Amino acid sequence: MTILVVGASGATGRLVVQQLLAQLPKENETVKIIVRSKAALSQVLPIETIQDSRLEITEGCLLNMTDSQLQSQVKGCRAVVSCLGHNLNFNGMFGRPRRLVTDAVQRLCHAIEATGPDVPIKFILMNTTGNQNLKAGEKVSMPQALVVGLIRMLLPPHADNEEAAGYLQSRYGCHQKTIEWVTVRPDSLINEESVTEYDVYASPVRSAIFDAGKTSRINVAHFMSQLIINNCTWNKWKTQMPVIYNNSI
Ligand SMILES: NC(=O)c1ccc[n+]([C@@H]2O[C@H](COP(=O)([O-])OP(=O)(O)OC[C@H]3O[C@@H](n4cnc5c(N)ncnc54)[C@H](OP(=O)(O)O)[C@@H]3O)[C@@H](O)[C@H]2O)c1
Repeated sequence: MTILVVGASGATGRLVVQQLLAQLPKENETVKIIVRSKAALSQVLPIETIQDSRLEITEGCLLNMTDSQLQSQVKGCRAVVSCLGHNLNFNGMFGRPRRLVTDAVQRLCHAIEATGPDVPIKFILMNTTGNQNLKAGEKVSMPQALVVGLIRMLLPPHADNEEAAGYLQSRYGCHQKTIEWVTVRPDSLINEESVTEYDVYASPVRSAIFDAGKTSRINVAHFMSQLIINNCTWNKWKTQMPVIYNNSI
């Protein structure tokens, strides 16, 4: 059994890798990652994680891989996790690839379909509470709609996140046999050392713009790992866009 994590060098992706290696049964489980720089990985992951025999590292740029390379990456995987995000600098925000997350999700899904898996593959996408789930009937205030509209126009990564989630939602409905998905929406991300209590809701319970909550990346990683490991958690949230907040009480 194998799990593929993309965006694994990122602030959340690296925690997903660590959580998976810590929580998965030791035997017969592999975590695969595709990173742009293997050398840079040693700055973000502990050496014992990098040297873990269950971690398989491929160096390469995901969007430049051929279809057959991507197919060999996803073949045999029971789950694929995307923690990709545009780097928070001028190039990352406004340069190419503008549709990093959407293109990656589409290409990975096509690759999964091409391998014809016997059972549905779990696809987990990291997204944002700023993305409204219209199909679930979510409503926001007029001021929030205006601000999000401006963000959508001015910041390409936001539109990319919305499009990526929309792609999974429109293409892979409840009865799809190849891919099941969960789009995880954290609020404002913070870094904490360890997993704390957190709450998961079907829709935001506070304004992502005017009353944003906090979500620690390690809690996102823990929830994502639980989605993969625990089928009850998966069945509860599949084909939904759960929102995750730290429990501040
Ligand atoms: N900041 C917030 O408060 C917040 C809140 C909610 C949701 N989010 C969303 O959460 C997601 C992840 O956030 P994060 O802070 O964990 O991300 P992050 O630390 O910025 O990591 C981004 C990952 O994407 C990879 N990446 C960037 N550009 C790439 C490219 N052109 N080709 C291939 N890989 C590329 C990076 O690889 P390299 O290491 O090679 O650059 C890295 O692994 C983002 O989509 C973000 O929009 C953020």
